[in-house]
Amino acid sequence: MSPGIVAAAYSARAAEYTSLLGSMESTHPADRELVRSWAPGLSGKVIDAGCGPGQWTNFLHSLGVEVEGVDFVPEFIETAGQLHPDVAFTLGTLERLPTPDQSLAGILAWYSVIHTHPKDIDRVLGEFARCVKPDGSLLLGFFEGASVEEFPHAVAPAWFWPIAEMRTRLLGAGFEVVDTYSRADPGVRPHAAIVARRMEH
Ligand SMILES: C[S@@+](CC[C@H](N)C(=O)[O-])C[C@H]1O[C@@H](n2cnc3c(N)ncnc32)[C@H](O)[C@@H]1O
Repeated sequence: MSPGIVAAAYSARAAEYTSLLGSMESTHPADRELVRSWAPGLSGKVIDAGCGPGQWTNFLHSLGVEVEGVDFVPEFIETAGQLHPDVAFTLGTLERLPTPDQSLAGILAWYSVIHTHPKDIDRVLGEFARCVKPDGSLLLGFFEGASVEEFPHAVAPAWFWPIAEMRTRLLGAGFEVVDTYSRADPGVRPHAAIVARRMEH
């Protein structure tokens, strides 16, 4: 699925997405805890890559993190700015984040690579690696599956990823996995998260 088609699909449903999922009340307590525990280790700027309506960006901001939300859907950037006027939001893509090389302490990519075709994931993880300083951190949230498999997500086709395969892709991009988390709640797709450290360049 090309990024342009995914962007158009989210543009068309941005208001609906924001009302259903655009607040911290709609997030899982364990995920809030994970992000809360991730934040103190970040010294410097962080990008929330694929921030949607900006609820996680604002959460990190409320924890004292210097954070900027980036998304390629103009409606999300506009809404996020209205909902969280003290937080920075910028239009941009995962494939080319608006930041210099090695400028970031960390990247949060919370369910934003789920629509990235497996043939393109190395490019996106490589872009994250370009932006993060040595020893910086990446927190990735995604749908977990037994194999890399496409499924019809409500907005646009998305992929399940085994943690082991994502670990391999991360390693190839220059990230070493520090921690992994998974959760299988009834009635929802299995969830995984990975905290990874940018290895020396
Ligand atoms: C499932 S939503 C997650 C949004 C937000 N992180 C959250 O947890 O609610 C996926 C987000 O990633 C963004 N996204 C997907 N592919 C992208 C790309 N190639 N460049 C920039 N944003 C992208 C979408 O616009 C959307 O906001």
